[in-house]
Amino acid sequence: MTDRAEAFHYRDGDLYCEDVPVGDLCAEHGTPLYIYSHAALTGQYKALADAFKRCDPVICYSVKSNSNLAVVRSLARLGSGADIVSGGELHRALKAGVPSDKLVFAGVGKTDREIGDALAAGILLFNIESVPEAYAIDRVARGMGVVAPVALRVNPDVDAQTHRHTTTGKKGTKFGVDIDRAVAVYKELNELPSLDLCGVHVHLGSPVTTLAAYEDALDRVVTLVESLRDVGITSVRMLNLGGGLGIVYRDEATVDVEEYAACLRRHAEALDCQLILEPGRFISGNSGVMCTQVVYRKEAGHKTFVIVDGAMNDLIRPAFYDGYHAIRPVTGAGRGTETVDVVGPVCESGDFLAKDRHMERVDEGDVLAVFSAGAYGFVMSSNYNSRPRAAEVLVMGDTASVVRERETVEDLTRGESIPDALLADQ
Ligand SMILES: Cc1ncc(COP(=O)(O)O)c(C=O)c1O
Repeated sequence: MTDRAEAFHYRDGDLYCEDVPVGDLCAEHGTPLYIYSHAALTGQYKALADAFKRCDPVICYSVKSNSNLAVVRSLARLGSGADIVSGGELHRALKAGVPSDKLVFAGVGKTDREIGDALAAGILLFNIESVPEAYAIDRVARGMGVVAPVALRVNPDVDAQTHRHTTTGKKGTKFGVDIDRAVAVYKELNELPSLDLCGVHVHLGSPVTTLAAYEDALDRVVTLVESLRDVGITSVRMLNLGGGLGIVYRDEATVDVEEYAACLRRHAEALDCQLILEPGRFISGNSGVMCTQVVYRKEAGHKTFVIVDGAMNDLIRPAFYDGYHAIRPVTGAGRGTETVDVVGPVCESGDFLAKDRHMERVDEGDVLAVFSAGAYGFVMSSNYNSRPRAAEVLVMGDTASVVRERETVEDLTRGESIPDALLADQ
């Protein structure tokens, strides 16, 4: 069982996650509710690992896509490393049991403290995003008497045709160093005594749905490494080719994983480098759904609004990325179809899960599954409008475990206080 079609499926009109009825989980734990399939998560990981098995890459699951401890743990048990972007993700990855020598650390604003913690843990690689960051890592490493393994993240100036908020490999974004400056930057950094310039890192954006963008970027990376070797910088032995592999949200074309593997492998082999991958969405995206209950139906301005109890604070992808998520009732389908907007209760016109969506007719009280919500779903949720965040459940076969409790209203004000002066009567 590897994908959504198998992990989340209908039996006699009822949606199941593996062998557990989704409606039962919602009745027991309430909505909005995130539900993840362990079989789908591990199946996707294995599909990727299988496609790459000839070159034995270090697969560093991108924790930002879904950072629940149980999710990260499920993958660590299969041998996965982790791609982290903060001290918080370092903490999570270690807590979930990811070996520190399989951790790669990206992000444009690493602080001295985060750098020190990662060095103390003994991570595999820092993905350096700028020259000042390289000097900071060198300084912190020297202070600790260690040498930091680093890859320069290069910006190949390739348009991977992703949403403007997730494009990272095009000139003018804040990520990495322009590839045409890279040789000069490597030469400068080569003088820093506490850096081991052992890699090159590139990540194009997400989700990438054509192989051409990878081909284009990797040709440029190969040329770069050859130029480095020509000028005597021979320390580069790791090629971190990032993540970004797309998934099917609707019916879009995606990159075939075998072709993707063949393309990346060819470039890594040409340079005799260890390949590192940072897949996120490919593993977690179709491994989760968000369930939400219809609160009201409303007719206004020639439109029908289905108002649900899940909102942009729970799943921001539709509002932030124009993301499409299939939506279906978890039970009792077959009441005809209609065109509606599915919206949440947050006080923003941007609070919607679907607009002008032709879908099965649903009524007040029905529970809906919002599919493909496993990546960049719960992790991007917030307490906006003082809404407690949803619970998360992991299903393994016929067993379901709450892997994050629903927040309470008490959780919302934890850590806040009112100064004494305001407590006194006027
Ligand atoms: C550096 C880096 N690596 C990996 C990823 C994971 O991307 P995806 O979830 O599309 O695989 C991201 C996503 O933003 C990223 O910025």
